[in-house]
Amino acid sequence: SIDQKVDSLIKLMTLEEKVGQMNQYNGFWDVTGPAPHGGNAEVKYQHLKNGLVGSMLNVVGTEEVRKLQQLVVEETRLGIPLIFGYDVIHGYKTLAPIPLAEAASWDMEAIEKSARTAAEEASAVGLNWTFAPMVDISRDARWGRVMEGAGEDTYLGTCIAKARVKGFQGGDLSQPNTIAACAKHFAGYGFAEAGKDYNTVDVGTATLYNSILPPFKAAVDADVKTVMNGFNTLNGIPVTGNSFLQRDVLKEKWGFEGFVISDWASIMEMIPHGFAKDLKHAAELGAKAGSDMDMESYAYVKHLVENVKEGKVDETLVDDAVRRILKVKFELGLFDDPYKYCNEEREKERLHHKDNHASVLDMAMKSIVLLKNEHNLLPLKKDQQKIAVIGELADDKNSPLGSWRLGSDDNSGVSVIEGLKAYTEDFKYAKGPKIFHEGANFLNEVGVNETDRTGIDEAVELAKESDIVLMVLGEHGFQSGEGRSRTKLDLPGVQLELLQAVHEVNQNIVLILMNGRPLTINWEAENVPAILETWQLGSQAGNAIAKVLFGDYNPSGKLPMTFPRSVGQVPIYYNHFSTGRPNPEANVFWSHYSDEKNEPLFPFGYGLSYTTFEYSNFQIDDSDQNSIKVSATITNTGDSDGEEVVQLYIHDKTASIARPVKELKGFQKISIPSGTSHNVEFNLTDKELGFYNHQYQYVVEPGEFSVMVGTNSQEGLTGTFTKD
Ligand code: IFM
Repeated sequence: SIDQKVDSLIKLMTLEEKVGQMNQYNGFWDVTGPAPHGGNAEVKYQHLKNGLVGSMLNVVGTEEVRKLQQLVVEETRLGIPLIFGYDVIHGYKTLAPIPLAEAASWDMEAIEKSARTAAEEASAVGLNWTFAPMVDISRDARWGRVMEGAGEDTYLGTCIAKARVKGFQGGDLSQPNTIAACAKHFAGYGFAEAGKDYNTVDVGTATLYNSILPPFKAAVDADVKTVMNGFNTLNGIPVTGNSFLQRDVLKEKWGFEGFVISDWASIMEMIPHGFAKDLKHAAELGAKAGSDMDMESYAYVKHLVENVKEGKVDETLVDDAVRRILKVKFELGLFDDPYKYCNEEREKERLHHKDNHASVLDMAMKSIVLLKNEHNLLPLKKDQQKIAVIGELADDKNSPLGSWRLGSDDNSGVSVIEGLKAYTEDFKYAKGPKIFHEGANFLNEVGVNETDRTGIDEAVELAKESDIVLMVLGEHGFQSGEGRSRTKLDLPGVQLELLQAVHEVNQNIVLILMNGRPLTINWEAENVPAILETWQLGSQAGNAIAKVLFGDYNPSGKLPMTFPRSVGQVPIYYNHFSTGRPNPEANVFWSHYSDEKNEPLFPFGYGLSYTTFEYSNFQIDDSDQNSIKVSATITNTGDSDGEEVVQLYIHDKTASIARPVKELKGFQKISIPSGTSHNVEFNLTDKELGFYNHQYQYVVEPGEFSVMVGTNSQEGLTGTFTKD
């Protein structure tokens, strides 16, 4: 068995070789060129040759991977192959929508397929491990990394975590087209104070156990092979040095058998956190806490052997880490054939394969959310209108790709203009003011024009002579992602001014939003008749948008995150707790803002269709207490066929720990032809009705529950039942 093979191999290894397996380096030199001389690259190269490296990240391409693999397999004493990791977040070359957008599809089959497509491409360029999915729940749109997650809800996030792990890892990890997945960032990273990346996380146990941890547990249950810790502290302890999380919960309680990778330099960062006094101490704390592999801190490779020899770290802990790492390498089949991911033919064939483009196009259409559609302005009538297209982003082939797309080519997305051309040449385009400065990329900040209004007049003139105006506004593709927190959530720069100027002369506006996070768009929502949330949809963005605009796909997405009215409401999320004063009182002493409503602009789960759905016939059958049945009939009352995401929410009215006012506990995405009805039934079992107490025990308490089946988190049919 694999376990026996791992055990026999460990017996042959020196302490130095074991620690080598726990070390991961970034490959930043030209791997295909001559061996590096001098500097850090040479140190890494020598370490590779001497068996002091177990994994590389950011080395891609069959030629590059083969070359480094050969170096370790042929030149080190034991020839243990490397595992090659990379951030394949929403595709490698062919890009799917950003993960937050995919979450808006609520379509688990499509999401799994999207991860499968990404794995097909990534595995073809030599990679065998992705640092995805990010399963951090976040309620704070200021945090730039919300683009990489599944949004604010734990239930939806849990379903998506499973789907993505299954998609990346496939049915059989030893196949050359599957890659190991990595659930990250364990844990709490999405709760950074004030939405500022890398910031302090301080949450209570109820939130940790019930909201933050379940998607990780779901990933482990789906057999995720690796877990990444993070940059943050959690209640004062850096998660990288947190043995409660990594040993007691992940490895003991959940029985996780894969390995934990640190985040980039997060072992070293325990020093500035004020937790480790120096790198040697950081290595000791990381290893003891169960961080099995060190990404780019150089802490283990420099100090772990010494720590073991001095008795600070028990060698059995090193053995445990190495056992986990080797096991994954065996499961990937790297010992049978270290070059199995290095097939040059397959590499050529798979990149940008037409099947991949078909897959990301499908995912992109499913990710679009229709936020408003007054007077059925959409879909557009083909060839009947004078169409104006306005906004810099309409002609942008880069921004729709979104952030975290390290393997993709710049400007490789289909722009909105290109997508429209597939339908009609008969439209005119005005760019409007230049909003985003040139040259922004993954490594630097996006400069935004806040003052130059050149181009507004020309856009207004075009709008005057048009029947309908498509305005493409939003964020630059690199305004979200790691290190991209914002304090404002409005349209950057002078975009609102542009919109308002156009609106003065023509109100027939379709606002096409392109953004990596929820935005505060109050004026827009009040004044613009039609709004499509298109996020950043990846390689096929423009085609997907055009298909939805012209009605060849009926939008079916629902928001995976609440849209606030104001930044001051953030964190805002539907499954909050009640206060003791939830209702308006005669005077001011109730829980509210004096200058803004409590309600969001668009609630979690919200999204329209070109057709309409009516909910009726709501029934609860609680005769079988082990499986309470809740059902409703949904009728498509409009003129077109459509899909609806039917959502089930519960509220445990009284419990030993107060429960959220509402919690998603089920959903079904169903396709309903026009004029027909569909009956939807949900079963509520202990799995849905319980919660974790402060001792991290799962409890199901008797009492009264209210339940709602609806079209979003605020609108639906409600009833109650009692759990004995
Ligand atoms: O995977 C990422 C992580 O999410 C953030 N820091 C760097 C890692 C590797 O690129």
